[in-house]
Amino acid sequence: MAATVFADSLLGKFTSSNKQRLAMVGTGDRGTSMWGIPVIDEFKDLVEFVGLCDINAGRVETAKKILGVSCATYTDFDKMMKEMKPDRLIVTTVDATHNEYIIKGMEYGADIITEKPFTTDEHKCQDILDAEKKTGKKIAVTFNYRYSPHRQKIYELLRSNVIGDITSVDFHWYLDVYHGADYFRRWHRLRKNSGSLLVHKASHHFDLLNWWIDSEPEEVFAFGSLDFYGKNNSFRHTDCRSCPYKNECQFYFDITKNQRYVDLYVKNQQYDGYLRDGCVWREDIDIFDKMAVQIKYASKVQVSYSLTAYSPYEGYRISFNGKKGKLDAWIKERQPWEEDHFDEIQITTSFGKKAVVRIDNREGGHGGGDARLRKHIFNPGNDGDTWNQAAGSRDGAMSCLIGIAARNSIDTGKPVRIEDLVSIKPQAKRPTG
Ligand SMILES: NC(=O)c1ccc[n+]([C@@H]2O[C@H](COP(=O)([O-])OP(=O)(O)OC[C@H]3O[C@@H](n4cnc5c(N)ncnc54)[C@H](O)[C@@H]3O)[C@@H](O)[C@H]2O)c1
Repeated sequence: MAATVFADSLLGKFTSSNKQRLAMVGTGDRGTSMWGIPVIDEFKDLVEFVGLCDINAGRVETAKKILGVSCATYTDFDKMMKEMKPDRLIVTTVDATHNEYIIKGMEYGADIITEKPFTTDEHKCQDILDAEKKTGKKIAVTFNYRYSPHRQKIYELLRSNVIGDITSVDFHWYLDVYHGADYFRRWHRLRKNSGSLLVHKASHHFDLLNWWIDSEPEEVFAFGSLDFYGKNNSFRHTDCRSCPYKNECQFYFDITKNQRYVDLYVKNQQYDGYLRDGCVWREDIDIFDKMAVQIKYASKVQVSYSLTAYSPYEGYRISFNGKKGKLDAWIKERQPWEEDHFDEIQITTSFGKKAVVRIDNREGGHGGGDARLRKHIFNPGNDGDTWNQAAGSRDGAMSCLIGIAARNSIDTGKPVRIEDLVSIKPQAKRPTG
């Protein structure tokens, strides 16, 4: 159904040159690297950029150069939409602003391609769902994590019923002291921007759970705290470049060694004061770095999930407990010199045997997943949706609502029911789209 949604949204949407007119708001790292350069490379016969918009006047010009396009650039979103009338709008701004552009974009007549998280609180979520209904426009949410071959194989094995009905899941995700720390340097460190990592990061993981379990979340309870970053250090500064503790801080990050970051952020800092190499010890950090969440699904599946953002290594472990057996999967960090380039899935059937499935992970762009996601978005007729990976607004909402419910639960100390947050009633079997 979701694939049909994308296909429908393509009909009758061509420019005089017969190409789909694309605009992008939020021309930072993700916008340019995932939805800019590769889209132009892969779909130049089908789409063309007609407008780029960002609140940072310098960054939007840098993005135009990076993309090598000749379209107009804007810092005024309304002006772009009125002048360029794009068919589709790509939303890649700071998370807490997605709602504003998704809603306005649809009101201006565009279908939406939005990055995760769908949005950052329940009120914004309801507003987006209402606007989609009212305008009749469509929202595609780009859950790239669904597309990695390893996760796709897990989906396929679970649907084959090899472990029987799933009753519970143990899921633990580790962000290391490089990748994890980076969230505490950037705009993500403030709840008002990212909704916390429970929304910004974990919405990927919650979406995987919803998709794998094939049900919708009903009730959430959570704990969380900030134990490592932020105020938990004896020294701090504003940013790494000007820091007097450079030589003693293990989290010192030299942004000047990354030319792309220099071009996108350092050279454009004068326009908005944004420090891409902000100090991970700043006292204003108000997101959690340690989180534990319990989720009960409408199908009665129970999930124990945790997220740790200061682990020495990066990866995850997941275990699906079924009535006929157990599926275990893990991703471990690999060094470039390691020869083993497989991710494993282990199936253990009750009173039976163990079997290990090995998935080659050598192909780039998340095992080729990123490119397949772009195909689903821009050329849906050419690639079916065998594993139900294409996602719409309901999937977007259900994933971020678990994080929002978890955050509310941490704040209040009480369990939170999803149906008390928005007008959607969770279903035991997940409706697609
Ligand atoms: N799916 C994934 O794996 C993945 C990976 C990275 C980022 N993302 C998502 O992509 C989005 C962008 O993240 P990023 O890493 O590129 O961040 P970024 O900081 O590089 O880019 C965000 C851009 O939005 C602009 N912006 C901020 N507020 C704005 C506003 N009100 N109006 C217009 N522009 C505004 C900023 O100036 C910046 O250029 C986020 O929603 C993030 O969650 C997804």
